[in-house]
Amino acid sequence: TQLSQITEPLLAWYEKNARVLPWRENTDAYRVWVSEIMLQQTRVDTVIPYYERFLRRFPDVAALAAAPEQELLKMWEGLGYYSRVRNMQKAAQQICEKYNGIFPNEYEQLLSLPGIGAYTAGAVASIAWNKPYAAVDGNVLRVVTRLTADSREISDTKFKNEITAALQEIYPVDKCGIFTQSLMELGAVVCMPNGTPRCTECPLQSLCSACAAGTQPAYPVKKKK
Ligand code: ADE
Ligand code: SF4
Repeated sequence: TQLSQITEPLLAWYEKNARVLPWRENTDAYRVWVSEIMLQQTRVDTVIPYYERFLRRFPDVAALAAAPEQELLKMWEGLGYYSRVRNMQKAAQQICEKYNGIFPNEYEQLLSLPGIGAYTAGAVASIAWNKPYAAVDGNVLRVVTRLTADSREISDTKFKNEITAALQEIYPVDKCGIFTQSLMELGAVVCMPNGTPRCTECPLQSLCSACAAGTQPAYPVKKKK
C-alpha cells in the first residue's frame, strides 16, 4: 500500500528536523503522559513553561498523587480545561494504589485510567515504551487524509479506528516513539491546517495524493455543525 512508503522518508526527515522540546529529552512514561495531556488542548509554545514548572514541582507519580488540590489547580492556571489535571491526579492515585506507583506497561491498563483515551495511551505506549501503538490526533488525521486523499469525515469513529490500524501496520520496530512524534511533527510544522501546507518542504510530497491533485485544503473533511 501507499502508506507503507512513508515510514522511511518521514523518519529521516524527523531525525534532521525535529524541534528540541523538553518532553523529547526524557521519555519516561510519566513525562510523556503529562506532556500529552497538556498538549491535547493547548499549543506547544504555551505548554513548555507549564510543563517545566509542573515537572519541577511534581517530578513523579507519587508527588502528583499527593499534591494538595489548591496547589495543583494553581499550577494549571491559564491552561484551562481543569478536568484534565483533576483526572491526572486521580490516575496518579490509582497508579500508586494498584501498581505501587509504577506506570502500568500494558496498553489496556493505561486505557483504564481516568482521562487516558486511545490517543494518550498510544502516545505513552509508543513514545515511552517503543510499542507499535499509534496516537491519532488532529495533526495526524490531517496528514493521513491528505496523503491518501481520503474524504471520509474524521469524527467518524470507525474511520479513525481504521486509520489507527493502518498506521499500526507500518510502525517501525524499535522506532515506534519517534514515528509517533514524526507524524505529529509533520502535521504541526509542514502539513499545517487550513490552506497553507508547506508541500515543497515535505518529505512525503511525492507520495501525497492531495498534493498531486492540488486539493490539500479540502482535507480533513469535518462534519458541518
Ligand atoms: N502535540 C501533541 N503531542 C506532541 C508532541 N509529543 N510533540 C509535539 N507536539 C505535540
Ligand atoms: Fe501535507 Fe503537502 Fe506533505 Fe501532502 S505534500 S502530506 S499535503 S505537506
